[in-house]
Amino acid sequence: SIGSYENILVSQPASGVTLITLNRPKALNALNSALFRELNDATEAADADPSVSAIVLTGSEKAFAAGADIKEMKDVEYAHAYKTNFLGHWTKLTTIKKPIIAAVSGFALGGGCELAMMCDIILAAPTAQFGQPEINLGVIPGAGGTQRLTKAVGKSVAMEMNLTGRFIGADEAAQRGLVSRVVTEGSVVDEAVKVGSIIAKKSQIAIQAAKEGVNASFELSLQEGTRFERRLFHSLFATKDQKEGMAAFAEKRKPSFKNE
Ligand code: HXC
Repeated sequence: SIGSYENILVSQPASGVTLITLNRPKALNALNSALFRELNDATEAADADPSVSAIVLTGSEKAFAAGADIKEMKDVEYAHAYKTNFLGHWTKLTTIKKPIIAAVSGFALGGGCELAMMCDIILAAPTAQFGQPEINLGVIPGAGGTQRLTKAVGKSVAMEMNLTGRFIGADEAAQRGLVSRVVTEGSVVDEAVKVGSIIAKKSQIAIQAAKEGVNASFELSLQEGTRFERRLFHSLFATKDQKEGMAAFAEKRKPSFKNE
């Protein structure tokens, strides 16, 4: 999955973990269409690669991503946007089956905040700043800033962020549940890779089922959601990894999962 790209860097910092680094530093990682195409290619390649269990997505110290590329977008006309489903390809990221961990330092604004929210876990450096400043450009978010943010932080904070453009820092983001935790300065990528390494040691079938279950909670009623969860749970009894995991517990040893 380590291809050659112009706007991102792809590496393997630990066994089973692919690290994708957004790499347009001069534009604070503004998300132009070339970058997003490469990001989609790299995440799809990692999803298809059996040696990869988790993906870490990061930016630079100064910016995870400062949003969609305003310079690329400013002359877009409605007819073109509608006919081409402008930026619709961003949602491809949400079809990736393997867990994606966002390691956020600095600005995660507009489409950058939305990109982080499309990931499964967000870890924040103390410098992280989240915001939806689209309102200052005469538009609104187009990739989940009114939807995922509301589900993450609740109505009042989401409204304030969307209507005034106020940024929230790492601590407030953690307090509101937008990120899972704030890590020490300079360690956010290492911590995210550690989370990926922990995930890589589990049964990958169970990992993908867990991700599917949590994501279903955003779409289904509680009754349908718990039914779906129970069915997923039942299905895991068809795996060798379930037999291995439970046998290992009973025999007081570490499980060795084969993803079968
Ligand atoms: C294009 C951008 C950019 C962006 C920064 N740059 N953000 N270019 N699109 N979103 C460029 C600047 O033009 C500048 O280029 C360089 O990056 C450095 O930025 P500065 O503004 O000089 O840095 P600083 O003063 O530190 O301010 C940082 C900042 C500011 C607060 C993050 O750059 C900013 O407000 N950026 C825009 C944030 C924003 O509105 N995002 C939402 C976009 S709309 P030069 O060439 O001058 O050096 C969106 C919609 C999503 O995301 C829809 C999804 C479907």
